[in-house]
Amino acid sequence: MVDNRTWADKIRALKEQKNAVILAHYYTRPEVQQVADFVGDSLALSQQAADTDADIIQFAGVHFMAETAKVLSPDKKVLIPDPEAGCSLADSCDAEAFRRFLEAHPDHIVVTYVNTSVEVKAMTDICCTSSNAVKVIRSLPADRKIIFAPDRNLGDYIKRVTGRNDIVLWDGACHVHENFSLEKLLALKKEHPGAKVLAHPECKKPVLMAADFVGSTAAIIDFVGTDGGREYLIATESGILFELREKYPDVNFIPVPPIDSTCGCNDCQYMKLVTLEKICRALETETPEVVIDEEIRRRAERSIRNMLALK
Ligand code: 13P
Ligand code: SF4
Repeated sequence: MVDNRTWADKIRALKEQKNAVILAHYYTRPEVQQVADFVGDSLALSQQAADTDADIIQFAGVHFMAETAKVLSPDKKVLIPDPEAGCSLADSCDAEAFRRFLEAHPDHIVVTYVNTSVEVKAMTDICCTSSNAVKVIRSLPADRKIIFAPDRNLGDYIKRVTGRNDIVLWDGACHVHENFSLEKLLALKKEHPGAKVLAHPECKKPVLMAADFVGSTAAIIDFVGTDGGREYLIATESGILFELREKYPDVNFIPVPPIDSTCGCNDCQYMKLVTLEKICRALETETPEVVIDEEIRRRAERSIRNMLALK
């Protein structure tokens, strides 16, 4: 049995030999984050993918993230360690059904969260991530009608924050973020009265209403740095705990438990499919590679570039 350190050594050697860069999301396993060249949230990862001068991008994350990297860097080889690493939120927005939805709502500006397939992005005017969703909506003319897809919880949150009640929402969600238990959260708040609740906007409204801060993974990490508290209740995927504990070793982070689970915290099983062994094999064989039809890629690129242009 090969241990993590041996896999990591092999990965570092292959990276150097092949001029490859590893981009990892905060939800991946700790040992994956440790071997990455860059760890970030969806927005920062797409910015890195657009800027890198590596020949190979090894994307340690889920499929839509690797696709986004390929859309932005078509001349680079983009590898995904496990193509089964999907996303329930992206899957909740089927491209054909979305096309019919758009036909039923003509004359709307189409905003989609990056957690979508490349086909959905190709039908989008401007993408957003959880970091910049509010900013993207505020950048749009006040007299234009808007469609927001696919996350109904993030969509509902941005409607509340921006006051734009005319946004039409697609009815999709992330199974991980919808599974946080409000009852268990309220019980934990009683046990830890000094702890602030930090939640990702993909959580359901009652959880967001109980939160002191709502933000993307990167925003949650930054919030702790500026807030300077000693204890926090965290309502997002469990992978973020690694970076939080590395960065703030003296702070107590308590995961908000899910409604039903055996592990006491919320894991995205897709993110956890990415292992050191799979990264190593992908770098060795330079497969599986993300391949996208050029016409679809070009149309999807416009929607992502429109987002990245919003500084
Ligand atoms: P971030 O935008 O915070 O990276 O979130 C991505 C994601 O998949 C949330 O479930
Ligand atoms: Fe998709 Fe949810 Fe996993 Fe994020 S946590 S990658 S939205 S399934």
